[in-house]
Amino acid sequence: MTLTQAEKAAVVAIWAKVATQADAIGAESLERLFSSYPQTKTYFPHFDLSQGSAQLRGHGSKVMNAIGEAVKHIDDIRGALAKLSELHAYILRVDPVNFKLLSHCILCSVAARYPNDFTPEAHAAWDKFLSSVSSVLTEKYR
Ligand code: HEM
Repeated sequence: MTLTQAEKAAVVAIWAKVATQADAIGAESLERLFSSYPQTKTYFPHFDLSQGSAQLRGHGSKVMNAIGEAVKHIDDIRGALAKLSELHAYILRVDPVNFKLLSHCILCSVAARYPNDFTPEAHAAWDKFLSSVSSVLTEKYR
């Protein structure tokens, strides 16, 4: 899935804002994920998943850091996330369907904070970008 130059620019432009509140957006995305799709909680039996817990916030921050790396290396997302791809495929074995759910929750959290920036074009670009990130993180399954 290749992003056009315009789509890359749209992703980078919104990321500049998201990065300033990345931890909060990461935590909110996970809260949305676990409330709307409680089946995803099964991957985190060792976590305290209550709203605002330190583990949930810490994990939200890690996820957003990885998204930030992907934005920074938008022309080589595969290379940027190689280690994470192995972790999710070989060790965590997260069912790929869950990546669509998390991507949707990230989109909602970004849209809710930046409604004016979240134009239809920006929405489409971010959707494509998060699909690319998800493809990379799920491509090693066998
Ligand atoms: C761990 C990113 C999707 C479940 C991680 C880590 C990162 C990350 C950065 C920490 C790795 C480390 O500590 O070295 C992402 C990104 C995703 C994604 C960018 C997609 C946009 C998912 C999904 C699930 C999931 C959909 C399951 C619903 C986990 C679990 C861990 C983990 C269980 C280990 C947590 C722990 O024990 O600390 N992920 N992840 N991830 N991820 Fe993902």
